[in-house]
Amino acid sequence: MKAVIVEKPGDDNVLKLADVPDSVPKSDELLIRVRAAGLNRADIMQRQGFYPPPPGASEILGLECAGDVIAVGSGVTGWKVGDRAMALIPGGGYAEKAVAHFGSAMKIPAALSYEEGAGVPEVFLTVYLNIFMLAGLKKSEAALIHGGGSGIGTASIMLLKEYGSRSIVTAGSDEKCEQCLKLGADVAINYKSASFPDAVKTATSGRGADVILDSIGGAYLAPNIQALAQNGRLVMIGLMNGTRGELDLAAVLRRHLRIYGSTLRGRPAAEKAEIVSAFLKQFSAALEAGRLRPPIYRSLPASEAREAHRIMQASEHFGKIVLTF
Ligand SMILES: NC(=O)c1ccc[n+]([C@@H]2O[C@H](COP(=O)([O-])OP(=O)(O)OC[C@H]3O[C@@H](n4cnc5c(N)ncnc54)[C@H](OP(=O)(O)O)[C@@H]3O)[C@@H](O)[C@H]2O)c1
Repeated sequence: MKAVIVEKPGDDNVLKLADVPDSVPKSDELLIRVRAAGLNRADIMQRQGFYPPPPGASEILGLECAGDVIAVGSGVTGWKVGDRAMALIPGGGYAEKAVAHFGSAMKIPAALSYEEGAGVPEVFLTVYLNIFMLAGLKKSEAALIHGGGSGIGTASIMLLKEYGSRSIVTAGSDEKCEQCLKLGADVAINYKSASFPDAVKTATSGRGADVILDSIGGAYLAPNIQALAQNGRLVMIGLMNGTRGELDLAAVLRRHLRIYGSTLRGRPAAEKAEIVSAFLKQFSAALEAGRLRPPIYRSLPASEAREAHRIMQASEHFGKIVLTF
């Protein structure tokens, strides 16, 4: 089968479309003929050599894919050949065929294309896990999401709107802020021209955000703590600005704050199946109705994987970038 491979760790020039051995499903896995694969920021880190796949996972990039089921393992239930699947996978999405644990796969709603389906699993399940399952956001609360124009940010905006709680996002340009508002964010802050803790306080009548989903890390730790409300929860999911920051422990005590950290990729299949099942229980009607539909910024053929990575690394995109096979 054809797959996009990383010749050696480096910049986008190390990506190459090549022939590799076919993926083979285990008894609890589906074999998917991939039509589209979603890009994620983690793919850039893996390409650069900083984010190796978990043990047993494919070395090929790609944490999510959408396509047609072409084989099912003997222990799989609820799936048959011919089903349209969108799957969360620990690797292997940038290929004509990919394997997925059946508990990590979801049926693609009729309202969604393969490209849109490929943009759902990684970001929607990450947001669901962190904002809903870990931080336990209530409808009456407000959440602050950094990187509102990212895959994670756009999924957050749509899920929060569907759920009915307030979303405040940050983004790096007025244009991206406008797009976030159009997608359904209640407040959008251009972090390059405004101090986000001040803007969050203004937007919440001085209260602060009840939950912050932070994928930036580093120097954002101190202002995040400043921006949290009493009983606020900070959920760390990414470290684009670095691994170290300064923490005001007095504020943590005084305001009864909680800090979580989590990753999705390395979790056991059984945990991922629980996340998928809880997500579908709450949001499958909205998915079916097409209200949860990732904005696709660009869909490029797999032969243009270098360009796709360049766009993502330059943060030109709003929403998701996908590769087609
Ligand atoms: N822990 C997990 O399980 C998990 C799962 C999925 C994703 N993540 C993390 O979530 C983050 C977003 O992933 P994604 O795939 O949605 O990314 P993405 O679509 O590539 O978007 C990232 C966005 O973040 C903004 N950004 C980049 N560097 C920044 C910085 N230093 N300060 C402020 N903003 C910055 C950029 O938008 P602007 O133009 O607005 O600056 C960029 O478009 C990544 O950190 C990723 O590792 C974690």
